[in-house]
Amino acid sequence: GSVAVIVPAAGSGRRFGSETNKLFAKIDGVALWVMSVRRLRDQPCVGRIVLPIADADRDYFLVQHAELAESLGVEFVAGGDQRSDSVRQGLKRIEGDESVRWIAVHDAARPLVSPEDLQTLFSVVISSKAAILAAPLSGTIRRDLGSHTQTVNREDLYEALTPQVFDAGLLRHAYSHHNGRPATDDAELVERTGHAISIVRGSADNLKITYPEDLLVAEAILARQQA
Ligand code: CTP
Ligand code: MG
Repeated sequence: GSVAVIVPAAGSGRRFGSETNKLFAKIDGVALWVMSVRRLRDQPCVGRIVLPIADADRDYFLVQHAELAESLGVEFVAGGDQRSDSVRQGLKRIEGDESVRWIAVHDAARPLVSPEDLQTLFSVVISSKAAILAAPLSGTIRRDLGSHTQTVNREDLYEALTPQVFDAGLLRHAYSHHNGRPATDDAELVERTGHAISIVRGSADNLKITYPEDLLVAEAILARQQA
């Protein structure tokens, strides 16, 4: 287990709009966060799994699901205001652990990442030090130039997904230089330090659950994955 995974789970799921965190919603009877963690746990190279969680959810995770969390081998830490603050809390937990050579960050809200994509990603990072799953865009993209609009060639455009995996020192360095300027993902923070990011073409099935209707799509994808 030379890969430590930080699984940000400390959001509030505002857009999902349920009373409790969206990560407790279930597909096929399994909570989203559990499915995300299980798929990571099944990878032999994965050692520690750290879950930043919100204070409001502490009871749910630490009391109601203590046994499950223990069998999955997850370590809980308090999350932060922004996703990057939560990741930073995760980094603190694994600080000084010499056995951690790579650090992966994977949204708890992406329960459908496939074993194949995980394997490919983990094999690529060994040579590139920074690699992320990314999916080709499927829509037609148009840019607004003010006076007119223009079709954008989508051939070289990708949607960044997670996991995103980095050499441990590289990610720590990126976070130590993070001055608070918002970034949409960890790859952007690493990129700012001047390091190139490799992309591994992943399946668009690896969707992020954001709105309630995403659950319906996820159910359908899961059924196909299990067929
Ligand atoms: N996340 C986190 N800490 C935060 C914000 C988000 O750990 N301060 C996590 C979420 O729990 C989620 C992932 O980052 O697993 C991606 O975030 P997103 O899909 O935006 O989830 P939420 O922030 O919970 O949803 P919303 O933006 O609709 O409130
Ligand atoms: Mg959010």
